[in-house]
Amino acid sequence: MTDSVVVLPGEGIGPEVISEAVKVMEWFVQTQKLDLQLDIESYGLSCYKESGVLVTEDTLSKIAGSKAVLFGATGGPEFDAIPKEVRSKGNLLAIRRRMLVYANLRPVMAYRELEDVSPIKNEVARGADIIVVRELNGGIYFGEPRGNSVHGRPPDQSVNTLVYSVREIERVARVAFQLAQERKGVVHSVDKSNVLETYRLWRDVVSRVGANEFPEIELNHIIVDNCTLQIVRDPRQFDVILADNMIGDILSDLAGALTGSLGMLPSASLNQFEPANTGRSLYEPVHGSAPDIAGMGIANPIGAILSVGLMMEYSLGKRDLNQLLKKAVSGVLGTGVRTPDIASNETDPVSTAEMGGEIISELERLHKD
Ligand code: NAI
Ligand code: MG
Repeated sequence: MTDSVVVLPGEGIGPEVISEAVKVMEWFVQTQKLDLQLDIESYGLSCYKESGVLVTEDTLSKIAGSKAVLFGATGGPEFDAIPKEVRSKGNLLAIRRRMLVYANLRPVMAYRELEDVSPIKNEVARGADIIVVRELNGGIYFGEPRGNSVHGRPPDQSVNTLVYSVREIERVARVAFQLAQERKGVVHSVDKSNVLETYRLWRDVVSRVGANEFPEIELNHIIVDNCTLQIVRDPRQFDVILADNMIGDILSDLAGALTGSLGMLPSASLNQFEPANTGRSLYEPVHGSAPDIAGMGIANPIGAILSVGLMMEYSLGKRDLNQLLKKAVSGVLGTGVRTPDIASNETDPVSTAEMGGEIISELERLHKD
């Protein structure tokens, strides 16, 4: 049976970077004879202009029947002007929740080829290769009760709730441990258990899952304040970092500094994890819609392109294709081809489409070897 991948470019630089990612996906489909069909669908601002909603029922049912979703980016001034009632239905958070993707994987590595533009000292960053596993479906982003006091305007009191069940912690912890099995075998679980009860539960559950199911994995617990310091001071000590929704959100941006630009970072959001993941999963670059550079054709498409590599590995079980793609990206960066966000002084920056084209050429070259 032909599997389908639903592609939602979104707005801002989303369509620009996704168009290059789609070229890479089509290259894989052709050269590897993958039985994959791509459905490019309108989402967000463009969909609102056509049909008055962020996402149509038809697209939602295509997502439900798909193998994976490739998402560009959403947000920005024009998007924010859409009425709130419309924006609250079918936004990215709602789609993630609807797809039940609970484990957000964000790999970050220090590219040797980008050492000249890294904000972190080369002797500290060199060789760093981390994957942040962020819980995506629970925690303080969704906990109830939430809201503002009804009296004050502006409110004199607001509340959000940090809540996790044992089951929610167990399943995301398993993803982190399983990933570590295929990597260096080290998990750092991040929390603030010295202050908050929820993080005490987090720590206890992660410890139990580790001891009972993954005794061969080295598990370290680390308090979030110390973890931020350690990521910048000595990133090479980390292999897999496991964190809840909010801490994971913050730490993955920080760890992203190792790579040099937000535009370089891919992500995968999984609802189950197996070597050949059979669940529906969502792949997207970590960056947002970047209104400041949207429409200029200069956005870095590598985060979006590497998200296709993660799709090959986690949704299709084709890790070799992800490796091949990463090799192609490093190869292109090594020749000095750079979009403006990663450009050094010596090189004339290239456009989004030129970067995509160079990566395809490099894939062709590696494929022939
Ligand atoms: P952003 O990630 O869009 O941009 C931050 C900075 O990084 C900007 O200076 C931007 O030009 C640069 N940048 C981002 N991606 C780049 C790329 N591929 N190539 C070169 N430079 C790149 O974050 P910001 O500015 O905080 O948010 C802009 C909008 O995006 C907001 O509406 C926000 O809500 C939304 N957003 C959406 C996300 C998503 O769709 N998953 C994630 C984060 C923000
Ligand atoms: Mg973030």
